Amino acid sequence: MKYYIIFGPPGAGKGTQSVLLAEKYSLTHISTGELLRKEIESKSELGLKVKAIIENGRLVDDATILEMLNKVVSEAQNGNKGYILDGYPRTIPQAEALDKILEAKGQKVTAVISLEIDEEVIFQRIAMRAQMEERKDDMDRATIENRIVQYHKKTEPLIAYYKESGRYYRVNGNKSIDENFKDICDIIDKIK
Ligand code: AP5
Ligand code: MG
Repeated sequence: MKYYIIFGPPGAGKGTQSVLLAEKYSLTHISTGELLRKEIESKSELGLKVKAIIENGRLVDDATILEMLNKVVSEAQNGNKGYILDGYPRTIPQAEALDKILEAKGQKVTAVISLEIDEEVIFQRIAMRAQMEERKDDMDRATIENRIVQYHKKTEPLIAYYKESGRYYRVNGNKSIDENFKDICDIIDKIK
């Protein structure tokens, strides 16, 4: 089983690339952000709990995320060759929890693919998406800035964590969708 993490700040293209990769490599795409937005939409207990947090651009607590993740990973699909994790892990405790889950299965993270993108490009992409989709956390600049702050503070330390294990790969995320996809596929094909 392959376990790829697609990593990067808001708007880096994690979701876009994950969809393409899931199709090409028969992987199950798990986006914790998408799962949480579905919970909010269905007004579930979890959705009601996390709504304000997400809409303010803060991170949901690690225990809640882990519980949600465990549920999805155990519902494996037919023909599944692995997973592409989009938006998880986002904190050091989440990365440690993932390592433990995988260790129990005799597995480990295959590669962390990091989309590096300039801050001005983040704002451009999110502004474009806001015109097409209604994501509450895309609507105002302060919330987007807060998501970026959370990324630097809580998520960026994961770069050192994964670099240490030699499974960290960088991609220039400022390029086009097709160019990014090609760069990521080249990485995956090399380590296969
Ligand atoms: P999440 O949904 O993961 O949001 P995010 O990390 O802020 O990232 P985005 O989904 O905004 O961007 P993306 O990198 O997927 O880019 P996309 O492909 O869409 O999380 C949302 C919230 O949920 C968090 O803030 C937090 O509150 C909570 N949460 C989620 N996971 C959590 C966790 N593990 N722990 C705690 N809390 C958690 O692309 C963006 C736009 O640009 C699109 O319109 C796309 O079409 C376009 N685009 C993409 N690539 C390109 C390109 N190369 N060129 C031009 N346009 C492009
Ligand atoms: Mg996304």
